[in-house]
Amino acid sequence: MHNAAFAELGMNRVYMPMEVSDIEQGIVGLRALGFRGVSVTVPHKEAVIPFLDEIDPVAEKIGAVNTLVFQKGKDGRVILRGLNTDWLGANTALAEKVNLSQSRVLVIGAGGSAKAVGFGLVQAGAEVIISNRTVKTGKALADWLDCTFVPLEEITDVSADVLINTTSVGMEPNNEGIVVPPSLLPGFSVVMDIVYAPLETRLLREAKAAGCQTIDGLAMLLYQGAAQFKIWTGAIPPQLIMRSALEEELRRRAVA
Ligand code: ATR
Repeated sequence: MHNAAFAELGMNRVYMPMEVSDIEQGIVGLRALGFRGVSVTVPHKEAVIPFLDEIDPVAEKIGAVNTLVFQKGKDGRVILRGLNTDWLGANTALAEKVNLSQSRVLVIGAGGSAKAVGFGLVQAGAEVIISNRTVKTGKALADWLDCTFVPLEEITDVSADVLINTTSVGMEPNNEGIVVPPSLLPGFSVVMDIVYAPLETRLLREAKAAGCQTIDGLAMLLYQGAAQFKIWTGAIPPQLIMRSALEEELRRRAVA
């Protein structure tokens, strides 16, 4: 998606995947080679923090960084700043369909993705309910967010406007997995899944059939990426082109 955006805007830049075994040395290398920005993904989102010169206050609060930018500091020295755009990705996707400040949102899961999504929802003024299979981790996240926790087995008792799956349930190759009983879906106006392979998960298919609006997993991926693009380049991200590039890549992978 970033390369498609660079091409669209005629920018002489390139985005490429790299695997890193030693984060500290990796950063030394990136700095020496004149890199402008970096996406950080699992399992490095927390481990990279000690090697930053600066951390954005929101990323610090979440305790995870998915975006690095090399910037000129006040003394002219290049400094490395870490930020988090994951929480923005979910919020932007949801804000297209609902007024979050007046919504009750049920978030399934309590991992890193749930943390970023939950944080964004609280920022936007939503009423958040966390539900998770493992009670201990679910409760810990709900305490951190200062919101309600409901064990996954008791989810039938919960009513909410929006349902978000942040777990890996329904992801290929287990395409028929669904994290909540389909019979509950008609109770929600909007259902969002962060799984994007397949693009239409069983959860989204059943939600559509139940008359809900749906948000697929590419939406969060796209908007967190669009926010990164703006941080790195200062330019307005060409989101339609970026979305098409993501869809094309998914189709390519499905064939491969
Ligand atoms: P991420 O950082 O991508 O969010 P994670 O930290 O591994 O990934 O979190 C995965 C989440 O999916 C957890 O909330 C996990 O529930 P547990 O805390 O009970 O492990 C949830 N999850 C994974 N598989 C699940 C399943 N089959 N049913 C219900 N929840 C599941």
